[in-house]
Amino acid sequence: PDTTTISADGQLTIAGKSLRELAHTYGTPLYIYDRSTIINACVAYQQAFTTQYSASSVRFLYASKAYISPHLARLLAEQDLGLDVVSGGEILVAQQAAFPMKHISFHGNNKSEAELELALKLGIGRIILDNWHELERLTRIARQYQQRPQVLLRIAPDVATDTHKYLQTGHAAAKFGFPLQSGEAKAALLRILQEDQLQLVGLHAHSGTLLRETRPYEECLERLLALACAVQQETGWWPEEISPGGGWGIDTAEAQQMPDIALLAQALQRKVEQLQSQLPAAMPMLVLEPGRSIIARAGVALYRIGATKATPGGIHYLFVDGGMADNIRPALYDAQYTAIAPEYMDKDSDQTYCLSGRYCESGDMLIEQVQLPALHEGDLVCLPTSGAYCLPMASNYNLVPRPAVIMIDEEQICIMERRETYDDILRRYPV
Ligand code: LLP
Repeated sequence: PDTTTISADGQLTIAGKSLRELAHTYGTPLYIYDRSTIINACVAYQQAFTTQYSASSVRFLYASKAYISPHLARLLAEQDLGLDVVSGGEILVAQQAAFPMKHISFHGNNKSEAELELALKLGIGRIILDNWHELERLTRIARQYQQRPQVLLRIAPDVATDTHKYLQTGHAAAKFGFPLQSGEAKAALLRILQEDQLQLVGLHAHSGTLLRETRPYEECLERLLALACAVQQETGWWPEEISPGGGWGIDTAEAQQMPDIALLAQALQRKVEQLQSQLPAAMPMLVLEPGRSIIARAGVALYRIGATKATPGGIHYLFVDGGMADNIRPALYDAQYTAIAPEYMDKDSDQTYCLSGRYCESGDMLIEQVQLPALHEGDLVCLPTSGAYCLPMASNYNLVPRPAVIMIDEEQICIMERRETYDDILRRYPV
């Protein structure tokens, strides 16, 4: 986080609070979010783009799936970001925060009737249609509710990305969106315009996540505008907004350097300038959906070592009190993390450890090999850059309660999620 410092006695602090004290007060595993880092990331987006675009022609929706809570939703609203949600659950968290519903876009490839009804009832700003079933389903429900909701069509743009297979979304074989090449995307657009039960306001595509180059965004934009031009010629319809999705990368253990958000802003501006003269009408509003690049750096996972083991083969395990149930990313995507010993920042990292979790699974390794100072039972370990897609994918594997989550700044500490209790877990089971 941006507010990280090291005190004279070698203690890591965030927003002036030592991690040792936070662990003592709130227990471990603990996820800590630094409020200033979140705000700085929101401001960085706004500044990068408003030097290129006027404030009215670009809008940011935070992708809630990266991590959301009512406290965070309120902070994002204060920063003038909208939300991208993908479920009734995320909608209801936003509602709890009194988030302005008209600034919410509802994504997903299999929204249920109940979720679509909830979206209409609460007045969600945009619904993004992902396939024919949804198009029919929403048309029917909208008719029944006598509403004419604003929708975008999600296109499968056939854009390749150089990322882990599970993190690719925009290729032709992806499960999301109407395929462009087969003509289905255009057919769906024409259907919506003909039926007139839905208000078609724009086009959306999302090519992937952890992107470090601007090409996929540029290609998405190009393809969406080409489709819009073709439909405009036939029908006169022109999108009010156009969204090349989210996906901008962060610095990870594999690729240290955070790609500058200004690069993306400049590349998109160049693309817009290049295409503008060929457009039959004004460039639509540009909508971006950053998740990870807003929240990942702000979050730190804090664990306590409960046991250690040295194998005959020379592996030195540190067993922490969390692991794959609160962070599945190393096991699922081979994601690389770094670790820090927050109580010994003044000591050399001269030991090689395997940082392993508490779960009954050999693959429960947070980091296979990491350099740290000599550590023992009772010491703390923290994983920086854990703010995105760890907790949202957390499970109750082995029926272990989920961690507590706090958000801190210089003035205050707020509990974003209570530590789960055994009662919370047992409540699920009728006996
Ligand atoms: N918009 C859409 C339509 C998306 O599908 C996503 C992410 C985003 C925006 C936000 O992307 P971001 O800026 O956060 O990269 N669980 C995976 C990430 C899955 C991303 C899914 N979609 C992980 O842990 O890396």
